[in-house]
Amino acid sequence: MLATLVTAVVEGLQGALVRVEVDVAPGLPVCQIVGLPDAALSEARERVRGAIRNSGFAYPAQRITVNLAPAGRRKHGAAYDVAIAVGILVASGQVAASGGDWALLGELSLSGEVHPVPGVLPMVHTLARAGARRVGVPAANVAEAALVEGIEVEPLRGLDDAARLVAGPRGRRAARASRAAPVAVSGVIAAGATGSAPLVEAGPPVDLADVRGQAAARWGLEIAMAGGHSLLLVGPPGAGKTLLAGTIPGLLPALDDREALEVTVIASVAGLLGPGDGLRRGRPFRAPHHTASYAALVGGGPRLAPGEVSLAHAGVLFLDELAEFDRDVLEALRQPLEEGSVVVARAQGTLRFPAQVQLVAAMNPCRCGYFGDPDRACTCAPGDPERYVRRVSGPLLDRLDLRIEMPRVRPSELLLGPDPESSAAVAARIAEARARSLARNGGRLNARLGGRETVELGRLGDPARELLAAVAIRRSLTARGVHRILRVARTIADLAGRDPVDTGDVLAAADLRDPAAAARPGLAA
Ligand SMILES: Nc1ncnc2c1ncn2[C@@H]1O[C@H](COP(=O)(O)OP(=O)(O)OP(=O)(O)O)[C@@H](O)[C@H]1O
Ligand SMILES: [Mg+2]
Repeated sequence: MLATLVTAVVEGLQGALVRVEVDVAPGLPVCQIVGLPDAALSEARERVRGAIRNSGFAYPAQRITVNLAPAGRRKHGAAYDVAIAVGILVASGQVAASGGDWALLGELSLSGEVHPVPGVLPMVHTLARAGARRVGVPAANVAEAALVEGIEVEPLRGLDDAARLVAGPRGRRAARASRAAPVAVSGVIAAGATGSAPLVEAGPPVDLADVRGQAAARWGLEIAMAGGHSLLLVGPPGAGKTLLAGTIPGLLPALDDREALEVTVIASVAGLLGPGDGLRRGRPFRAPHHTASYAALVGGGPRLAPGEVSLAHAGVLFLDELAEFDRDVLEALRQPLEEGSVVVARAQGTLRFPAQVQLVAAMNPCRCGYFGDPDRACTCAPGDPERYVRRVSGPLLDRLDLRIEMPRVRPSELLLGPDPESSAAVAARIAEARARSLARNGGRLNARLGGRETVELGRLGDPARELLAAVAIRRSLTARGVHRILRVARTIADLAGRDPVDTGDVLAAADLRDPAAAARPGLAA
């Protein structure tokens, strides 16, 4: 007897429909899976046999053929287990299937439990659009599945739940997922990308009240967060670079609806949504370790998963110890930083994942960490500090809008005096400045403006324009350099509620981009 069930696969950020056809016929007891399965899927045979036996059903001692259609699409992962097992139960007459408007997703354990799978949100979205009215998903994935409108979501804990769902209303459990505020999933997924990777998962954010001294770095961070500008912190060990970066999650406003959906889909495909995780509202802050591989950072690997640069989409990618990262990995980040998306190559073509990230990086000035320190001698050999900085390529450094030198904190600053301003106060100013720029720039932060728009929307007063021209000549700035200074100056003015941008804003922005030039005598305009 033949049974046909509907399930889905995820490719990039999009789901695609897969039909599971199961034929159980007299013959030698073998089970064959055809239709471009990968290794994990070929192992479904063993999981399905164990799950059927251990859920109180009989595994048919007949010839079982499982066909996954369309045959041209490569199937990967273990999300088809439940559909294959139920297909065998239907085809062997142990479960009577009612109607055809349901679909099943989930991985089985040998004991018959249903385990969560990555990509449930985009897969359920695809199933709903294809006309499925009910979908059984692993209980741990119910919250994300419930974000999709127009489809009933049933939690599956074990194979017997799936069998009851398929058998029809009388056998079904009454449990229904509580639906979160519905959102328009379609736009995002249609525009649409993910995998898990090693990372330093952020703990609770550090409060700025705990970061003492470092006035320049605090100010630079505020500007960067208000305008979406990229930021490099340079300083000796223990200056507080990692500490300061830890305040970032507490300074950024929540995601808007569209961003929240994009971030949630990416997290779903990466398998990073936990049970009960619905729509993600917190802005991503990803801090991959410097030993992270190319695939972990950029995306790809056997599962074609999104990398850190996509997991940080709409948020901040923090590269601590920048000079320790593999050079090829850093080079690979240039394209996503420029384009806001990343292309992952695979055998049958390419996939594109979103990657609109704000880059924040930290590094020591040299290997020993004390190059340029007024009180402590650098122990590196001559030429070593330059070589150390050159490990990070010039074109990447050129893409960093702000470069802040963080000296050691003075003991008096560390131990005496009142507590510095808290994150809440700074976050409020950042939110206000962001609102100003979003309203003026058609929904974009200043860092996202193109060259010409920067000049048009920057609203530069005449004296500021003349000053910028003079700085550009004296410092031999490229066009990119001029536009970057202007964007940062615009943000400094936005933070102060100033319009138009004045000469002080331009000077401050120029010095934040290149502190060394600011320090050279005669070069400050
Ligand atoms: N400005 C500061 N205010 C308060 N505490 C600080 C400050 N700077 C450093 N500390 C203390 O020192 C610890 C180490 O600082 P942190 O890890 O941020 O240094 P770092 O600049 O990242 O050094 P490295 O270059 O070695 O990575 C912090 O956890 C904190 O306890
Ligand atoms: Mg550090």
